[in-house]
Amino acid sequence: MSAKANILIVDDEIGVCYTIKDILEDEGYGVSITLNGNDAIEAIKDNSFHVAIIDINLPDISGLEILKEIRSMNLDLYSIMLTAAATLENSIKALNQGAYAYIVKPFQVEQLKDIVKRATDEQHLVLENKKLLRELQISNAALKEAKAKVDDMNRALETRIRQRTRELFDQKERTEAIIESLADGLCTVDEHWQITSFNRQAEKITGFQADEVIGKHHAEIFKSQNSDYTRQLIESLKTKENISHMEVYIRNKNRQVIPIRVSAALLKDKNGKITGAVENFRDITEQKQLQEQLIQASKLASMGELLANFTHEIKNPLNGMLLFANLIQVEIKDKDSEIVDYADRILQEGNRISKIASDILTFSRQNRQEYHPEDVTEIIETTLALTEHQLQLDGIKVIRKFEPGLPKIAANSGRLQQVFLNLINNAQYALNKKVIQDSSDKNWKILQISIYKIEKEGKPYIRIEIHDNGMGIPEKHFNKLFDPFFTTKPVGQGTGLGLSVSYGIIQDHWGTIDVESRVSEFTTFIIDLPMADSYREILDA
Ligand SMILES: Nc1ncnc2c1ncn2[C@@H]1O[C@H](COP(=O)(O)OP(=O)(O)OP(=O)(O)O)[C@@H](O)[C@H]1O
Ligand SMILES: [Mg+2]
Repeated sequence: MSAKANILIVDDEIGVCYTIKDILEDEGYGVSITLNGNDAIEAIKDNSFHVAIIDINLPDISGLEILKEIRSMNLDLYSIMLTAAATLENSIKALNQGAYAYIVKPFQVEQLKDIVKRATDEQHLVLENKKLLRELQISNAALKEAKAKVDDMNRALETRIRQRTRELFDQKERTEAIIESLADGLCTVDEHWQITSFNRQAEKITGFQADEVIGKHHAEIFKSQNSDYTRQLIESLKTKENISHMEVYIRNKNRQVIPIRVSAALLKDKNGKITGAVENFRDITEQKQLQEQLIQASKLASMGELLANFTHEIKNPLNGMLLFANLIQVEIKDKDSEIVDYADRILQEGNRISKIASDILTFSRQNRQEYHPEDVTEIIETTLALTEHQLQLDGIKVIRKFEPGLPKIAANSGRLQQVFLNLINNAQYALNKKVIQDSSDKNWKILQISIYKIEKEGKPYIRIEIHDNGMGIPEKHFNKLFDPFFTTKPVGQGTGLGLSVSYGIIQDHWGTIDVESRVSEFTTFIIDLPMADSYREILDA
């Protein structure tokens, strides 16, 4: 104990008081004296004493009363009761009421010192404990407060996290919705070129479903027609970070070839490390077709101009030649002479040249003629009248499938007749050239002509199909068929102008001409001519 305790002595015998005081002061305690109970109660009120030595028998109130007061005031004071042997019973009562100990008078000095020491030590310990407890309570309260704060913060954090997760989720959903609704196909790959996402449009273009391509290598899905498209992409992305408008032909799930236009870029993380690539692509079949048509049209236009000039130049010398050949025929008297025969040949070949020349002029549209309301069925019949006899001789059966009552369309009948004649001649040639295994059926050669109404993009057209089951056209010739001078016929049998001339004439009729064919099976030329009201207005104008 660092500072000695304060002790109050309460006894009406002043001698006893001073004796105890002396003893205890010698021990270093602070000692005060009161001679009666009421003074004692006054003295202890401010809780400055640690131990009180109280005589049980006091003149005003009993020591037990004081004990009661101490209890009711909740003081830290320890009480030691002084008692004569006669009041031992009271002393026991006192112990029951909370006194620390009692000393029976007369007492031994050592006994007093010992009891007082124990009382002050214990009281000190109790005080210390109380203090610690208070401190503990205070830090407990602080802890509780801190915990409440942490709980609050946790709750706020949780709400924030939930909110943020929701936001991220919404954002992800929104991004996914955008990607799904893109007009372009979109495909992403990881750094090993394994597909990680594949949007709806990509599914549509390639015919593959997202779940059958995800995880597969890019090259497994994007099979290109003639080169390794994936390698091409990888190599290009090595030198530049993004590629735009690369055109390639890929095969879809059904192994059909589709032209696509591709843009691609590398994907990197925030440290610049490559994590994959994103590729968007568009089906450009329609654009390609348009482009081809344009090329065809411009090819024909420039060719036409060249040919028109050329033809013009040869027409005069040709006419001269024919005139002279004619003169030879007239002048030679001996009609059986070989010279007459030669002149005849010159005339025949010259006339062929003249026919080619006028074809060329038609092709180059130098011979524009007028348009009238015409009945397509009638034009076909006129053409057939010219050819049917020859077709019959070749064993070709002509089947007519004409829808009755078709309206007239704006046409130049002579030029349309030229188209049909070309097509019928081609069919006749293809039928005659076809070699068939089973020759038992003599009537296998068929030329079928159909005329009927159709609608294209809501507009009415007349469709004319000229179908033969002749030798057919190999696929590799499809894109050359309408080129001027493309022919597979031997020299002298075809100039290769028929289809290019026909193409030009049908274009002049605002129509389209197309072909479907399979080698050794069939060929069908399909001509669509518009019959819209506005079209008739062109005529009326
Ligand atoms: N019905 C058909 N069946 C098979 N091949 C055809 C048919 N029509 C056209 N072709 C092919 O298309 C080529 C071009 O036809 P096109 O009518 O333009 O010229 P051509 O018939 O060869 O010569 P020209 O018509 O000038 O006498 C033909 O040589 C032939 O190879
Ligand atoms: Mg022809």
